[in-house]
Amino acid sequence: MSSTDDTVPDRSFLKKNEDSSSLSVRAWVRRDALPCKRSHSCEVLTSPTDSSVALRAKDLVHAVQSGTGVRTLCYDSGYLNTIMAKSSITFIDGERGVMRYRGIPIEQLAEQSSFLETAFLLIFGDLPSQTQLEQFSKLVADHSFLHTDICDYMRSFRYDAHPMGIFISSMAALATTISAGDLQHLDKHIYRILGQASTLAANAYRHRIGRAFNEPRSDLGYTENFLYMLDRLSEDDYRPHPAIVRALDVLWIVHADHELNCSTACMRHLMSARVDPYTAIGGAASALFGPSHGGAAEAVVRQLERIQTVDKIEPFLDRVKAKEERLFGFGHRVYKSFDPRARILKEQVEKILELIGVEEPLFLVAKELERRALQDQYFRSRRLYPNVDFYSGVIYRALGFPTDFYPLLFAIPRIAGWLAHCREAQLAERELDLREHTHVIRPAQVYVGAAPRPFVPLHSGNRPPYQERDIECYRTRLSTRRRLGLLSGARLEERIE
Ligand code: ACO
Repeated sequence: MSSTDDTVPDRSFLKKNEDSSSLSVRAWVRRDALPCKRSHSCEVLTSPTDSSVALRAKDLVHAVQSGTGVRTLCYDSGYLNTIMAKSSITFIDGERGVMRYRGIPIEQLAEQSSFLETAFLLIFGDLPSQTQLEQFSKLVADHSFLHTDICDYMRSFRYDAHPMGIFISSMAALATTISAGDLQHLDKHIYRILGQASTLAANAYRHRIGRAFNEPRSDLGYTENFLYMLDRLSEDDYRPHPAIVRALDVLWIVHADHELNCSTACMRHLMSARVDPYTAIGGAASALFGPSHGGAAEAVVRQLERIQTVDKIEPFLDRVKAKEERLFGFGHRVYKSFDPRARILKEQVEKILELIGVEEPLFLVAKELERRALQDQYFRSRRLYPNVDFYSGVIYRALGFPTDFYPLLFAIPRIAGWLAHCREAQLAERELDLREHTHVIRPAQVYVGAAPRPFVPLHSGNRPPYQERDIECYRTRLSTRRRLGLLSGARLEERIE
């Protein structure tokens, strides 16, 4: 787009409408790119803290379309340039490594707040008063007890089931024990979900180690109660160490929200279909489980275990640069200078290792790996820096959590963020802009499949042969292998006939 002389000066292609005090502007489609005779009014969305501007896709598309006559859509498979919501929860400036919850810098919250206070801030918009925080903490604690059916359901998983699988399924199963469909009572669902999430996670852990579930305790703080449910054996007066409680609080504060990351976008996506929040949280947690997202801490530690010693870092980095593998815990879609959360966590590792008094060789490997990667042209030119997961896994390991439990330690705090987005979307729909927020999120696709073709009946003799990969897939099942022996693809087809 440009002004009428077809040049594109910085933001001068945007002009405020004289008759409007709103942010509405006129935009012109650049003539040398696409022929367009008319100008179009495009509403511009701006942020008070961000210099970038965003045009509504439908205005932009309309401008191009009416100039060219061609039906126009935007193709953005990874949402690299797509805004899906207006939000006032978390602000991130990836260039400068800035992150704020509701305007408050993450460093200050990590230093001075607690997880539950931060969750209140994210969900309800402001820091609570003393009374509000006490009420909120009590409501969350009172809702931390599970229905016995859910406990029985959790016990029915295999002893070695991944705890994240148990957690995701049990979270969705909560919808079956609670009248969950009614979004009018979202605040009550918020207390329940926050309260029960930590109990579900603790039970998933206890199930893995074959111990009875501990009942939650309403008189303990949120992270304290979680550690209590994990670790109490038979003591009446077991209390987790306050320094470990504090460390977990810090970890959970920095993980509580991160604007529209993959799982939060998934949460918004699901809520747009009006699904109940328990099922939606199960879906968002599934997105978080992936190694490119919340599963990264687990992947980092498994990677560090493979590297094992400092002398194996160089060959490992060579494989990364040859694109044979990824350096987990490095790189971020948004942060292109540093991830402020990674800085906070690096300090925490030092504190925890000192407290626990153990040598953690993986921490030395992690520090050296970071140092070498930051000096390497491959990582520098792509602006790849340690992200929050680079050190969180090392902390979890130092605290003695099993590796496959890390994604849960990420999911519990992130639930605060998912609930904040869920509430924000619901409020926006009710009060602010009904037109915009009632859309079910439903992107489009470019169809690249087969041209129209007729169905070929199975016994006509004209159906193309099986593709080899289908057979391979079938053969990998061990029982099938035993029953069919090592038949070749052709003989297998005969047997199936
Ligand atoms: N290791 C090696 N190369 C990388 C890495 C990495 N960790 N991350 C990005 N690159 C390279 C890519 O290969 C690509 O190189 P190219 O330009 O030669 O093709 C370039 O950097 C850009 O990478 P993209 O994948 O386009 O970057 P994107 O923003 O889509 O990816 C992501 C971000 C998924 C986080 C990526 O950096 C990654 O996979 N990191 C490792 C996994 C990880 O740590 N995830 C946790 C993220 S934080 C969180 O979710 C809480």
